Amino acid sequence: MLREKSIITIALTTSACALFCLSGETAAESGKSGAVENFALLDHEGKFHELDYYLRMPTSKGIALFIQGNGCPLVQKRVPELNRLKAAYEGKGILFAMLNANMQDNRSEIAAEAKEFGIELPILKDETQLVAERLGVLRTAEAFLIDAKSKALVYRGAIDDRMNYQKEKPEAEQLYLRDAIESLITGEEVVVKSSDAPGCRVVLPEKDQSITYVDHVAPILKSRCVTCHTTGGLGPFAMSNYSKVKGWSDMIAEVLMTRQMPPWHADPEYGKFANDCGISPEEKRTLVSWINADCPKGEGDDPLEGFSPVAPEWHLGEPQKIVAVPEQTVEPEGVFDYRNVTLDNPFGEDVWLTATEIRPGNTRVVHHVIVTAVHPEADRLEKWVTGYAPGTEGSTYPEGSAVKLPKGWKLKFQLHYTASGKRETDVTELGLHYSTEPTKNEFKTKVVMNHDFKIPSGAYDFGTEKEFTIHSGATVYALNPHMHYRGKRMSFEAEFPDGRKEILPSVPNYNFNWQRTYIPETPLEFPAGTKIVVRNAWDNSSLNPHNPDPSKDVRWGDQTFDEMFFATIGYIEKAE
Ligand code: HEC
Repeated sequence: MLREKSIITIALTTSACALFCLSGETAAESGKSGAVENFALLDHEGKFHELDYYLRMPTSKGIALFIQGNGCPLVQKRVPELNRLKAAYEGKGILFAMLNANMQDNRSEIAAEAKEFGIELPILKDETQLVAERLGVLRTAEAFLIDAKSKALVYRGAIDDRMNYQKEKPEAEQLYLRDAIESLITGEEVVVKSSDAPGCRVVLPEKDQSITYVDHVAPILKSRCVTCHTTGGLGPFAMSNYSKVKGWSDMIAEVLMTRQMPPWHADPEYGKFANDCGISPEEKRTLVSWINADCPKGEGDDPLEGFSPVAPEWHLGEPQKIVAVPEQTVEPEGVFDYRNVTLDNPFGEDVWLTATEIRPGNTRVVHHVIVTAVHPEADRLEKWVTGYAPGTEGSTYPEGSAVKLPKGWKLKFQLHYTASGKRETDVTELGLHYSTEPTKNEFKTKVVMNHDFKIPSGAYDFGTEKEFTIHSGATVYALNPHMHYRGKRMSFEAEFPDGRKEILPSVPNYNFNWQRTYIPETPLEFPAGTKIVVRNAWDNSSLNPHNPDPSKDVRWGDQTFDEMFFATIGYIEKAE
């Protein structure tokens, strides 16, 4: 993609207990299918964890989840034993994690407690309390052991019988969790499937039976989902009335519980972004609780009936100049490499682009588009003009700034298409707003690339990093992480000259399908000497559903079956 001249301008740029409680029965008999349903959560360090991902690892035998809560002595006193269990069994296919569902504990407090007590397990933060509700969590210090094969709960209860509220024995006599783990590893049936687990009470919200579609759910869908899930929209189905939404409700719960939708992947702990299209934990809870309660409709007109947000032809208004890509045909099936189309620049002089917008001709197949300007004689001299990815609505540059498009430079469109199941055509257009007057603030883009890596075949989490120092002060308006199909996560951290550190943004579950640019709500001021560290990880395993070939070691390359470490930062230099 872009080499050498890396100046780039981004455009974008407890009744649930019924499911799992083991009242003497086997877990398999107690739930719908006995399986613990998939979920994904971030841990106290902002790392992304998905249950099914771990259960599907070829070496995985099971997962032990321990309910944590800050300040609970019955949790704190179990840390050494949990760390020992982890050390003893992690190599034998048992994964250990804690789950914090306490409404009173936030992530930084949990991280502080983890540090103080030397907790070596990731602590997953269940901020909606929906996972705890599903598991029927009542108290902390309880362990849940999930079998990787059946996904069923095979043990729930205390780690052992050493602790009780009032008394503590020097040695445990019953090693419940260890015994259950040993059985799981050897493939035998777990004998003791449950035990009393003394712990601190976990307060879960009352089941709200009054949530209705008309009053509560439809308004959330309207603001968070229907922009795309509308007729002719980006989403694969339209949320156009009650029965449509009800029909999709189980899928909706699934994508919310696994953090797939809405497609906003920044960790909410770090930074505020102007283009944030995420969902709050409260809203998520409302939607999932409503689905768990069998989707009551409520009284009154259907708020989604006839509601269809019509996207304007051009989000930024009619452009002064439109450049159309000649019609492209897209085959019904297959995975396509990027298509490059180079067109003449329509201006006979230098112009200053004040806003740019790409209008995909056919959103069923246009995956992303990147437009660069290329020097007419030296195509290695290339600079970013703008980009489109699902969800972008064009780019305006900060007041008084612009991107320079030099006279004679060509416009190169890199088009990435995905098959839709039928033959499609597409005419994508680039809309330009510009001035012929030079601007004094050129909007520039710094590219942070790291070519120097080899991702081993099969690696679940292989990362690298790259840092650079800002030599003259800058105001930063946009940050964009970019990797290919194996991209797993990327974060930006600023280290200021005074030693202060700040993460801005962190994308813990990067998804190649959503090439997002993160626009800070307030532009970031970086004094000269600020160091930016970009860190990433790839997933080159067979568990990554996008991985084109997990058997290959992968290096840098332009094609999507190669990989990239490519982060961009859109900024204006500060006058000294
Ligand atoms: C920016 C556009 C956009 C927004 C906003 C959005 N979606 Fe989606 N949704 C998509 C696209 C595109 C897909 C197809 C899968 C993909 O590309 O990830 C999808 C897929 C889904 C699916 C899965 C369909 C399937 O069978 O795989 C569900 C369910 C869903 N969205 C629900 C929601 C909900 C609920 C919200 C709001 C909380 C939401 N979406 C917000 C664009 C969007």
